[in-house]
Amino acid sequence: MSVIRIWQSTVGKKVVMAVSGIFLMLFLITHLAGNLTMFAPDDGALFNQYAHKLESMGVLLYVAEAGLLAIFLFHVVAAFQVYLGKKRARAGGYDRDASKGGPSKLTVASRSMIITGIVLLIFIPVHIWMFKFNAGQEFTYTEVGGEEVKNLYAVVVESFQNPWIAFGYTAVMLLLGLHLRHGFWSSLQSLGAMSPRWTPAIYAVGLIFALLLAGGFLLLPLYFFFFGEIPDAGMGGGL
Ligand code: HEM
Repeated sequence: MSVIRIWQSTVGKKVVMAVSGIFLMLFLITHLAGNLTMFAPDDGALFNQYAHKLESMGVLLYVAEAGLLAIFLFHVVAAFQVYLGKKRARAGGYDRDASKGGPSKLTVASRSMIITGIVLLIFIPVHIWMFKFNAGQEFTYTEVGGEEVKNLYAVVVESFQNPWIAFGYTAVMLLLGLHLRHGFWSSLQSLGAMSPRWTPAIYAVGLIFALLLAGGFLLLPLYFFFFGEIPDAGMGGGL
């Protein structure tokens, strides 16, 4: 079967969605690990150093970002096409729940996948604009280990002092948790990895994974809103 024919079939699109989703989950794990360095008691030195190391990868970072963007676009396009295909198939008007094997399988997360997906689709560009590009404003710089680096930590902490941003992020992270919970087992199902014997275990792992990831991200806005202090220009040089 040619690549185009695989893409044209619903099963092919589901596989594309599953594989791209797994790569996006891997990205989120590394992104969370990097972000958790903000909790080091060093006024952001470790986090700023980590962000600086990433930036110094130069062209390699651009390649990784282009790859991530391509994977993301595949995921979004396949998801919309599968969703619209299902909607068209249902246009006949038969009972929706019955056609899916009863409401037990139609979980809240499954029904809301398209909604949580659209929220994340809006969130991601806004998030990148805010944090990667400091919403178009000049960055401040700090010294880490004798080197002058961008004070990205200050951007994050300052943003989360704003209640709208902190609680807006918290709400989006809860929706991310729902999206991941369903996405986890649904990707394994599309890849044919769900056997009845393993289904309960896979559901449980999916739930734990979603709780850890969304919970980890969610700690950041809440912690910095309640306890964050914007570091002075001279701080953050502890490493
Ligand atoms: C509270 C949670 C989060 C914080 C504090 C945070 C922080 C940041 C920061 C500081 C950057 C810019 C520097 C860097 O690339 O490391 C960034 C970039 C990015 N974030 Fe987040 N992030 C959060 C959650 C998320 C979530 C949930 C997603 C995806 C659903 C996400 C996707 C991205 C992407 C795609 C980039 C651009 C990466 C690049 O171009 O290299 N972030 N984030």
